[in-house]
Amino acid sequence: MPVIAVVNRKGGSGKSTIAAHIAAWCAQGGHQVMLGDVDRQQSSRAWLRRRDASLPAIAPWAMDQKNVLRLPSGITHVVLDTPGGLHGFELARVVMFADAILMPVCSSVFDRESAAACHAELMALPRVASGRCRLATVGMRVDGRTRGAQTLQAWSDGLGVPFLGALRETQMYVRCLERGLTIFDLPPGQAALDLAQWEPLLQWLRPVLNPPVAANDSASAGSSRLGSSRPNSLMPAQESMVHGGRLTVTLPAQASRTAPMTRPSLSRVAAGSDMPIPRFLRPGM
Ligand SMILES: Nc1ncnc2c1ncn2[C@@H]1O[C@H](COP(=O)(O)OP(=O)(O)OP(=O)(O)O)[C@@H](O)[C@H]1O
Ligand SMILES: [Mg+2]
Repeated sequence: MPVIAVVNRKGGSGKSTIAAHIAAWCAQGGHQVMLGDVDRQQSSRAWLRRRDASLPAIAPWAMDQKNVLRLPSGITHVVLDTPGGLHGFELARVVMFADAILMPVCSSVFDRESAAACHAELMALPRVASGRCRLATVGMRVDGRTRGAQTLQAWSDGLGVPFLGALRETQMYVRCLERGLTIFDLPPGQAALDLAQWEPLLQWLRPVLNPPVAANDSASAGSSRLGSSRPNSLMPAQESMVHGGRLTVTLPAQASRTAPMTRPSLSRVAAGSDMPIPRFLRPGM
């Protein structure tokens, strides 16, 4: 199951805006998408509450009777919005799940320095360093024709991270989010310029969200990786943090066909394995 996380420790860099847009784009594409809000501000959840039921559906986390956050059934794609300041163990937890991380970065030197520190921490994590979790940056609130965008491009190139272009500053984003919308939900033509700016980003996301299915996939996805009819837990096992550590995982029927077997699963529900909700996953904090 493809999981996209939007990460940057710098507050206000545009994470929730990007996460909502990616989720809406997935929903428009017919995917059963969940927007998981690991931010204690719960901005994405608040945005979801404003979203009209007639729009393509985006699910929030589900909560089970044990107060554990779980994937609602039927979900095929996950987008994770994360809080500013995310680092250490909590950042590593998000990376464990993510197939791709998008880092929105504004153009000031402070934003770049903060993002560089976040990048360094991400690169210290085996899933990112090995490329199993892809990483890219996007310029946020930057006019693509300006020196600010060039500076960001050069900065990202210097880190060896793909730069997916710049999204300009416009009240269109603010107004849309206020109404539970994204620019992907607007009538055609109403946000043509901004939609065009999203295209390189979407191009980068497409292979992540639609991983190719191997010819012998049905065999390899056999009994050991299927068959958990229990609800999916979002609580990873502690031992899965250990690089190279062995995991006992169960994958849901829709699980990624390309994920290596050592990858921790969103559905780790071995008997008695439910852990207390990590601080950053608790709602209302
Ligand atoms: N391209 C844009 N043009 C204009 N305003 C924008 C743009 N992107 C984001 N904003 C606004 O900037 C503010 C911060 O954006 P957002 O909430 O997405 O950042 P964040 O990284 O999630 O913040 P936090 O770290 O606090 O969670 C919001 O008011 C949002 O509407
Ligand atoms: Mg946010």
